[in-house]
Amino acid sequence: MIKKSRVLIALLGGLASLLLVSGAHAGKPGDPVAGEMQAGLCGGCHGFDGNSPDASFPRLAGQYEMYIVKQIRDFQKGHRANNDTMAGMAAMVASLQDAKDIGAFFEKQPMAKKPIAPVDKKLAAKGKKLFYNGNPKSGVYGCVNCHGDRGMGKSPNIAVFPRIGGQHRDYLIKQLKDFKSNARANDPAGMMADIAKKLSDKEITAVSHYLSAQLP
Ligand code: HEC
Ligand code: HEC
Repeated sequence: MIKKSRVLIALLGGLASLLLVSGAHAGKPGDPVAGEMQAGLCGGCHGFDGNSPDASFPRLAGQYEMYIVKQIRDFQKGHRANNDTMAGMAAMVASLQDAKDIGAFFEKQPMAKKPIAPVDKKLAAKGKKLFYNGNPKSGVYGCVNCHGDRGMGKSPNIAVFPRIGGQHRDYLIKQLKDFKSNARANDPAGMMADIAKKLSDKEITAVSHYLSAQLP
């Protein structure tokens, strides 16, 4: 299991850089100044600086530009079908360049300093263990291997692995349950579904408490 995942991660890292190299030639990089105007459309739900005050709407502040672009396109193409409201909003982003500009704007915004929901310290400690060590009994691989230390992501060059540290607790819980039930199925090679299906509801809650507190 562990070896297989390592190979998968190495492969994905390679794939990501290939995609980025070809993507870089396909157009201009995102322009955060142009993106700021476009992002006005998104601010009512996600917060104008990407720090939404409501857990139904994920924080976009500090998220990688290319992960944001991927999600917008996945909603547009119906590959991510776990929210009709957001699918409607994605349809209003007219071009790849617009998506990149918006992504560049949000990536530059500092993350808020506090979680919006209280964090249960005991649960967070359990979640931290799962995040770093996985669960060898059920074959869950440690989240840190793909999502980086404290869930801060790997780097903008490996933006296939999103930042999840500092994300709203209840949004994280929803995504993990959506991956588990296949309501969300846009993860490359089904790797998140594979993991989510092995997580108990208790583990999902614990790791989400932990992650929601990992702010800068
Ligand atoms: C009317 C509310 C609303 C507006 C306006 C809106 N969104 Fe969303 N967005 C959502 C909801 C709800 C979700 C979470 C869907 C889910 O539950 O999985 C979401 C999710 C996302 C995600 C996925 C984030 C992640 O961590 O995977 C991205 C990216 C995103 N929105 C970008 C945008 C952009 C860009 C705009 C403006 C063009 C925008 N949204 C406008 C409601 C909205
Ligand atoms: C083998 C690599 C890998 C491992 C290990 C992994 N993830 Fe992921 N995860 C991904 C990828 C890739 C995505 C992005 C899916 C997409 O493109 O939509 C993702 C997405 C997510 C999301 C959705 C983020 C968002 O903003 O909507 C959450 C939540 C998440 N992972 C939580 C976890 C947790 C918790 C663990 C550990 C129990 C974990 N992941 C382990 C690869 C991994």
